[in-house]
Amino acid sequence: MARDANSKIRLAAVGDLHCRDDQHGRFRQLVKQVNAEADMLVLCGDLTDRGMVEEGKVLAEELAALRVPVAAVLGNHDYEHNQWKEICGELSRVGVHILDGDHFIFEKTLGVAGVKGFGGGFGNATLQAFGEGQTKSFVQEAVHESLKLEAALSHLDTPKKVVIMHYAPVPETLEGENIEIRPFLGTSRLAMPVDHYGAEAVFHGHAHHGSPAGKTKSGIPVYNVAMPLMTKMRPEHRFLLLEV
Ligand SMILES: [Fe+2]
Ligand SMILES: [Fe+2]
Repeated sequence: MARDANSKIRLAAVGDLHCRDDQHGRFRQLVKQVNAEADMLVLCGDLTDRGMVEEGKVLAEELAALRVPVAAVLGNHDYEHNQWKEICGELSRVGVHILDGDHFIFEKTLGVAGVKGFGGGFGNATLQAFGEGQTKSFVQEAVHESLKLEAALSHLDTPKKVVIMHYAPVPETLEGENIEIRPFLGTSRLAMPVDHYGAEAVFHGHAHHGSPAGKTKSGIPVYNVAMPLMTKMRPEHRFLLLEV
């Protein structure tokens, strides 16, 4: 049955689970809370700690107990051992929708567009494709991720939209991180399609020591939901719960 377009959806969001292969049961309480309090869960990357398929299997076992839909993006850690396809396979088997430049639609009402994203810096300090080929490749990856997000958003015509990514689209949610590494934690290039197409909110992870909230240029709320940050703010509740 289609949900009333005006009714609120309780969205749980968290990133940076960094699941290891010896952590059976680590997310039991979280899954229980999400089942009790939310209509849907989004996961913002670094689902595994070292990008190993065994870690993906353990996480899949934990998430199999979820009774709400879940959409996710991968993070840099999930690529570490080049087993990301197998990790996606394990998670897909238990119903996790992995997004990489595409979208998931919740009950015809809420569209979730997702992409991993990349680094490159912010505002007028954004790295430009100039000089060495390696610099151009780095910038190209950020541009590519931004284009994928644009494509995902352009196909969404749901009454409400949210965006999930691993890297940060604004510098505000990186406050608290070592200033020298901030250009590697995200890029303004990721905010451009969000501002163009609009969204209720953006969720990202990656910045374990960052700040919880910021805004894009057009005023769209951005939430850093990295689990270490969520845990610091509310140890008994390791995710953000937002009504959209
Ligand atoms: Fe992380
Ligand atoms: Fe990360």
